[in-house]
Amino acid sequence: MPSESIVGSAVPATTAATAATSGAAGDALGSRMLQPGLDTSHHVVLYLDAISVSFDGFKALNALSLTVDVGELRCIIGPNGAGKTTMMDVITGKTRPDSGSAFFGQTLDLTRMSEPQIATAGIGRKFQKPTVFEQHSVFENLELAMSGPRSPWATLLARLDSASRDLIAATLERIRLARHADRPAGLLSHGQKQWLEIGMLLIQQPRLLLLDEPVAGMTDEETERTAELFLSLAGEHSLVVVEHDMAFIGALGGKVTVLHEGAVLAEGALDAVQADPRVIEVYLGR
Ligand SMILES: Nc1ncnc2c1ncn2[C@@H]1O[C@H](COP(=O)(O)OP(=O)(O)OP(=O)(O)O)[C@@H](O)[C@H]1O
Ligand SMILES: [Mg+2]
Repeated sequence: MPSESIVGSAVPATTAATAATSGAAGDALGSRMLQPGLDTSHHVVLYLDAISVSFDGFKALNALSLTVDVGELRCIIGPNGAGKTTMMDVITGKTRPDSGSAFFGQTLDLTRMSEPQIATAGIGRKFQKPTVFEQHSVFENLELAMSGPRSPWATLLARLDSASRDLIAATLERIRLARHADRPAGLLSHGQKQWLEIGMLLIQQPRLLLLDEPVAGMTDEETERTAELFLSLAGEHSLVVVEHDMAFIGALGGKVTVLHEGAVLAEGALDAVQADPRVIEVYLGR
């Protein structure tokens, strides 16, 4: 693996997969938060350039370009059908773009990696509907999320080492479910299930987290707690959050990208994009 690969260079799938699990870590941000093999020496964790995706001739993404920095908390807003979820599908390998490039760090070409390779390389995705194991306890859900390819039974029968127990305990605190560790996940509120699923992603220690409408259906109180959680994660992780809830976006306080018809319409602080006449016309003024 060349140490100075250039963004835009072709990385064969096999090389990209190898790079996801090996290689030297070490940049100015400190090794604590570095996934081995992820080169973020230019402080960019996600690089999308001129991505286009068509469905039956309809351009869901139309030369979309977007860059997310290491540790950034980026919010994506835009009207229904703007391409927000399709963008996440491209980043996670679910949808292949017709053209354009998508890189994770400097060297991992997402358009040439499979969905499992991308997840293993350190991109975690939260879908809108919570998908926790309802019969299992909150603790067991986190344990299962940590197991990777092992079967659920093998995981539950195996003894956890102390480092794994510490990681689960820290994650329970972080998602405010420490008091509920032994409860079946099925008994949690909708908001608590969402937090548990976020915990199940966090336990895999992703570098980049993609969250599609994470506070939909939450109470105001749960929404506020979720903003606090995301703010506590930024820096350590990079987050890309798609939401329609403007109060929530305001509480996160990060840079906002407005998508419209598959491309970036505006980008900047929330108050600046909210004052942009083009944004008001296509989205906020409706
Ligand atoms: N698999 C697919 N096949 C055909 N059309 C699709 C597919 N996925 C998305 N689309 C279309 O692409 C466009 C963008 O959809 P997308 O789901 O990315 O929008 P969105 O910004 O996430 O909207 P919302 O805010 O409603 O979630 C829509 O017109 C949608 O109907
Ligand atoms: Mg969507």
